[in-house]
Amino acid sequence: MSLAGRSLISVRDLAIAEVDQILDLADEMARAIGFDGPEHRIPARPLDRVMATLFFEPSTRTRLSFESAMLRLGGQVIGFADPAVSSVQKGESLADTIRMAAGYADIIVIRHPKAGAARVAAEYSSVPVINAGDGPHEHPTQTLTDLFCIRRNHGTLGGLRVGLCGDLKYGRTVHSLAPAMARYGSEVVCIAPEPLQMPAEVLEEVARLGGRFEQTADLAAALGNLDVLYMTRVQRERFDDPAEYERLKSSYVLTPELLSLAPEHMSVLHPLPRVDEIAVGCDADPRAKYFLQAAGGVPTRMALISLLLGTESPRACKGAFRFEEAPKEAKVSPACEPDRPRREERITEGARCTNPKCITSTEAYLPPVTYEESGHLRCAYCEERSVQQSLF
Ligand code: NCD
Repeated sequence: MSLAGRSLISVRDLAIAEVDQILDLADEMARAIGFDGPEHRIPARPLDRVMATLFFEPSTRTRLSFESAMLRLGGQVIGFADPAVSSVQKGESLADTIRMAAGYADIIVIRHPKAGAARVAAEYSSVPVINAGDGPHEHPTQTLTDLFCIRRNHGTLGGLRVGLCGDLKYGRTVHSLAPAMARYGSEVVCIAPEPLQMPAEVLEEVARLGGRFEQTADLAAALGNLDVLYMTRVQRERFDDPAEYERLKSSYVLTPELLSLAPEHMSVLHPLPRVDEIAVGCDADPRAKYFLQAAGGVPTRMALISLLLGTESPRACKGAFRFEEAPKEAKVSPACEPDRPRREERITEGARCTNPKCITSTEAYLPPVTYEESGHLRCAYCEERSVQQSLF
């Protein structure tokens, strides 16, 4: 299936062939913007498209890299970085904000503190929507950026041992990265204290995908046998109990001493921002790739935006940075079906999601859409087992 005109809410909605297509084009984009040396730079032509960035939650890298990506593609950017300056302040619903933005832009990028917000945006938008992080739920473009970086560093995405360390409970980036690595045939080592371990449903998904995983709290012991170490910050803003955050916030600090236990070829990644989980003394180590990883967010997002807008054909791009209009009828290739089977969703009258971090908790007009998985009723927006059914 062509990516043109589609939204990206979850990395799980992409077939592996589509992820590869994005990463291949990202390599071309990286070259064109000078990643492989200034002599390969190709100037962008003006692109008659506008992107709206609607950021209801703080962000530096994600917003700037999206905006840089669109500008480097030759397009224009509008939007806000602080909901306090938008009409949300006056009580506007998310649905109305999105309908309005879709009239102003050709593509919408949204970050929101509530799980499922990007899905709601896609439902009410007439233009493609990209999820730039919806609460603790998902962050698909960070995963694409992570995959782009791992593939460039290690030449492959399969057969690797990837350590995910830190706040695996609330960190949305690892919720998307773990299954993605499993789909490529890599092994995941979840390194976290018990209260911050990877949610059971993510591990179940990894297992369902035929992936292997281990769980440990011991970073020093795990380090000797990893190809990638993906550090994460303890997500203060998602803790209900500040004392619990204080107790867990410094669970891991990667120091040069600890790093000396790791293989020479291992790469250290971090979605950033870091707090104190990687000592600055590690920055000069050649294995520290987190700033390169952040830079890779630009070509990765350039590739994604182009493919969703249908303005770039990856084939046409080989060796030349040109834009092409997408064919009106997208060709359907069976190899490009999403790897996740379509689930049966339905409106369950009398049901309601009890998850306070779900978008349904603030947008009262949303219908109670649910689906069943392993005998449990789940909310289609936040994907939690948090649906309560009224007895009447
Ligand atoms: C991450 C995020 O927002 O989830 N940051 C990012 O997008 N680069 C990680 C984090 O905030 O810890």
